[in-house]
Amino acid sequence: IPVQPFDLVVFGGTGDLARRKILPALFRRYCAGQMGDAARVIGAARAEMDDTAYRDFVRGAITEFGADTACAPDQLEAFLGQIGYVTLDAQGAQGWDALKARLGDADRIRAFYFSVGPGLFADLAARIETHGLAGPDTRVVVEKPFGRDLASARSLNADLAKHFDETQIYRIDHYLGKETVQNLMAIRFGNMLFEPLWNSQYVDHIQITVAESGGVGSRGDYYDKAGAMRDMMQNHIMQLLCLTAMEPPAKYDPHAVRDEKLKVIRALGPVEPGDVVRGQYEGTDSLPGYLEEVGDDSSRTESFVALKARIGNWRWAGTPFYLRTGKRLRARASEIAVVFKDAPHSIFGADAGRHRNILTIRLQPNEGIEMGVTIKEPGPGGMRLVDVPLDMTFSEALGPEAGDIPDAYERLIMDVIRGDQTLFMRGDEVEAAWEWTDPIIEAWDAPGAEPCPYATGSSGPDDALALMHRDGRRWREIRI
Ligand code: BG6
Repeated sequence: IPVQPFDLVVFGGTGDLARRKILPALFRRYCAGQMGDAARVIGAARAEMDDTAYRDFVRGAITEFGADTACAPDQLEAFLGQIGYVTLDAQGAQGWDALKARLGDADRIRAFYFSVGPGLFADLAARIETHGLAGPDTRVVVEKPFGRDLASARSLNADLAKHFDETQIYRIDHYLGKETVQNLMAIRFGNMLFEPLWNSQYVDHIQITVAESGGVGSRGDYYDKAGAMRDMMQNHIMQLLCLTAMEPPAKYDPHAVRDEKLKVIRALGPVEPGDVVRGQYEGTDSLPGYLEEVGDDSSRTESFVALKARIGNWRWAGTPFYLRTGKRLRARASEIAVVFKDAPHSIFGADAGRHRNILTIRLQPNEGIEMGVTIKEPGPGGMRLVDVPLDMTFSEALGPEAGDIPDAYERLIMDVIRGDQTLFMRGDEVEAAWEWTDPIIEAWDAPGAEPCPYATGSSGPDDALALMHRDGRRWREIRI
């Protein structure tokens, strides 16, 4: 179903995110018939360019990053016809009148995508207002990193709040746009089977892993100032944790869902220094190590972090959440594993060994759910038990169309236009997440606190394995 006609202004329209994600996502939605023929997209950036040159840029971006799209060849040219460009100075006066003229008085949804560093958020927000570009149907979309600590996040929130109502602000965490992440809610709250067991009485612990095989590559400048804690843990993994741990919201709407997520973050206990491990990858014969890649031998920034989190509420007291993320690990594989407790008594005797149910929600790749169940090993050899997976890969279970899972940005941009904030972070949520994260990062500033080296292609530093072993548990293998 097409969304209502809209104008989307992409500040930073010539940047990397626009090229890789935003423009290809819009094109896919156009091909799917959702963007509609009346929608307009206006790129805005400092580069001197006219519409034709920008359309060439967009064509290049789509050829490079949207080539997998099932579209008729003439659709690209039609899509480009809906694209325009304005040269604009976010901190000066240039371009704003031209942008206003472009937008005109059309009574339609207007969205401003701040695909720029957070240093420009305040300038952009102020100019949108002073140039009279905002109206009741105006939305602004902001990208992570939303601050680098609690103080900076508060100040960004305050800057935006001067010009926009919270209901107009869409803070993107692209993990919330991933199909399987939304599926977490469907699995938990659409089935009778899981929710009664989803608590510390039955769950021994939960592991959340977001492993990447790639390194920091060309993003060294940004990444070295952020590190895995700010880049992944404070936002993406925090969101996964919230959706896994939250109470059932009364309904699927932005207030109810975000209220419940916020309660989880606020219930997180401080992380003991001994419960967190950070690491930095080493190079191989053919690949540079972290320090080489960022060009700073003395960097102590972490490319890996693992920690044990505790949620202080009735549902989760006593059930730890082990969280880990890192670059240059064995595989690109992300999952949430709910490890259930042992059966209280084994009727099969000690020889039957230890068997546990593990529910694994695979986020990527091979999105799906796997439930480890214990059955009898076939054959006449007596009652021997074996664990087998009840495995459901979504693309197989739902047929070929489901194999074509839309990119997170496709879903999220259309949600902005529809005015649905459910999958966006609210200001108080982001601040609460920083409040929990800040002391962990501050502790690393202490002299002598160094990240542990780990081998490219490994599962991270040995200390991360020890973090689990100490508790008589172990990480699941990182594998595709
Ligand atoms: C981004 C981080 O937000 O998420 C990157 O800045 C990371 O460092 C990326 O690689 C991971 O996203 P995905 O969708 O590839 O899992």
